[in-house]
Amino acid sequence: MRLRLRAGPGEVSALLYGAGLLDALGAEAARLLPAGPCLLLTDRRVGGLHGARALRSLRGAGFRPRVLVLPPGERSKTLASAGRAAGALAAMGADRGTPVVALGGGVVTDLGGFAAAIYARGVPWIAVPTTVLAMADAALGGKTGVDLPEGKNLAGAFHHPLLVLADAEVLATLPARHRRNGLAEAAKMELLAGLRSGLPRVRGLAAAAGGDGAALERAVARAAAAKAALVEEDPRERRGRRILLNLGHTLGHALEAATGWRMLHGEAVSVGMAAAARVAEGRGLVAPGGAARVAEALAGLGLPTVLPAGVPPARLRRFLRVDKKRAGGALRMVLPREDGEAVVEEVPVASLLESRGPRRRGGGPRPSRPR
Ligand SMILES: NC(=O)c1ccc[n+]([C@@H]2O[C@H](COP(=O)([O-])OP(=O)(O)OC[C@H]3O[C@@H](n4cnc5c(N)ncnc54)[C@H](O)[C@@H]3O)[C@@H](O)[C@H]2O)c1
Ligand SMILES: [Zn+2]
Repeated sequence: MRLRLRAGPGEVSALLYGAGLLDALGAEAARLLPAGPCLLLTDRRVGGLHGARALRSLRGAGFRPRVLVLPPGERSKTLASAGRAAGALAAMGADRGTPVVALGGGVVTDLGGFAAAIYARGVPWIAVPTTVLAMADAALGGKTGVDLPEGKNLAGAFHHPLLVLADAEVLATLPARHRRNGLAEAAKMELLAGLRSGLPRVRGLAAAAGGDGAALERAVARAAAAKAALVEEDPRERRGRRILLNLGHTLGHALEAATGWRMLHGEAVSVGMAAAARVAEGRGLVAPGGAARVAEALAGLGLPTVLPAGVPPARLRRFLRVDKKRAGGALRMVLPREDGEAVVEEVPVASLLESRGPRRRGGGPRPSRPR
């Protein structure tokens, strides 16, 4: 797949999706940028698995990469890490034209894009997503940022990558849990169109969830194309179109933070989508039984659909309030519909705290330990 995402004047991302593309990274980058110094940002795991191929390709096209490797995982998505990346750029004498190449999952692409947004008030960047989640969602759309102790993604900037290059082959090394995690975002794209057409497509993601390489490649490309279309319609989330991408994220973000990032982003979003479907069914937007069908389809991909036991409601409420404050007082949630596109409605915090899992008999909730 070769697509152009036009987010505004001068804000165009080339989206390249296909097996084996990592070897073409240098050549594709050189079509868009003069070859020269660049900063390759990655995490330890991805760097160990796929860094050499990326470096070889960049060097082969005349780039001179300096490498910054971070510890893997959400805990690296901090201002301190962004500071390290900006510091690395400064140390190499980077100027306005020196690109950042972010090779990794959504943590690395969010962080790399953010470092590129703030260094010298903006340098170009290239996203090389290596997880299903980052290929399907995080790497494109221009939202970059880091977490604060107070909540997810609280510091960030819009900064579109020049190029998103996704090589589905690298997904062969991705652990199954992360594969399923990313498919939650692909499922989200399908549910946004309405349950009637979306649910069969969510069920159809099962082959990808099971690790079928060709099915995965199709799933991430389809989700990325759908996201690109929504982003083009509302690049800065001002017209109410792009906000639809937040289906499942109100509760999802709070849950990620409340579990101390033990629950992965897609897993938390899956619980959030199941909760949104329940609220939607309660409001008659979804036919009776629709919420159960959503939960079943998500569970069929190996994703959780209820709050993990042991997350104190007060803690969850605190993180939900952060979202509420940002939205100007009311919790505005994306709700799916049976037919047609999802809608945004105000929802009381309490209705989101009802989706608890089964309690253990004869005792309190088990301490939180999502898989
Ligand atoms: N900017 C956006 O629009 C947007 C959208 C959705 C999610 N996000 C963000 O994305 C982040 C989650 O992304 P993620 O799930 O990709 O997390 P991640 O970057 O932490 O990657 C998950 C794990 O997989 C490992 N990994 C990555 N690629 C691998 C590969 N090919 N083989 C083996 N291991 C590999 C990583 O080292 C890491 O341990 C969250 O911070 C979320 O907020 C951003
Ligand atoms: Zn998401």
